[in-house]
Amino acid sequence: MTNPEFERWQGRYAAAPGHLFGEEPNHFLAGCADLLPQSAQVLAVADGDGRNGVWLARQGLAVTSLDFSPVAQGKARALAARHGVDLNFEQGDVHTWAYPTQGFDIVAEIFAQFSMPEDRARKWAAMRDALRPGGLMIIQGYTPQQLTYATGGPKLLEQLYTEDLLRAAFGDYALVRLAIEERELHEGDGHSGMSATIGMVWRKPAAT
Ligand SMILES: C[S@@+](CC[C@H](N)C(=O)[O-])C[C@H]1O[C@@H](n2cnc3c(N)ncnc32)[C@H](O)[C@@H]1O
Repeated sequence: MTNPEFERWQGRYAAAPGHLFGEEPNHFLAGCADLLPQSAQVLAVADGDGRNGVWLARQGLAVTSLDFSPVAQGKARALAARHGVDLNFEQGDVHTWAYPTQGFDIVAEIFAQFSMPEDRARKWAAMRDALRPGGLMIIQGYTPQQLTYATGGPKLLEQLYTEDLLRAAFGDYALVRLAIEERELHEGDGHSGMSATIGMVWRKPAAT
């Protein structure tokens, strides 16, 4: 059965001459460098053409880069090779992938706002289960204000993130960082111009 979203992303990556979201890491993720341990296993959720996963690997971390688009992953592999780092690439759907229980010290979801609420709840439950006690959950997304900028991201209100939404999903973890911003983003052709974002970092309690 064909999945129109899969075909749409395959087409977007195939049509982009270079990296759809650029080669540099997302600014919120890069700003979390001070929080990263020297060694850790990291899951990059919907990592696309690899700018974030490759950057995490360049920090010395063992990265699993999950996305459903083989075209994106081809570009991610090339970026990794250019930087001389290895990643574990998993081609899969974030809503149904077999997330290993407590398999990661860090789970990073950067601009993965394609899920409707029911699927998102399932995805976030799986991401929580995949995080080890004491580990970091890093989330970056667009807020509803982004609908007025229209410089990237989803067009549906239900897919955008608010502080309340993220607190409802992760508020039992300890909040480490919160950044609600309106700023210029230049992340390839995919995200370009004035943008409204929210970034949150949470630490899972040592014993849950
Ligand atoms: C906005 S892009 C962000 C990519 C990357 N996180 C970044 O910031 O550069 C969203 C990504 O989600 C992927 N994607 C969309 N739906 C997916 C799904 N159901 N399962 C896995 N990946 C999906 C797309 O292929 C695309 O790479």
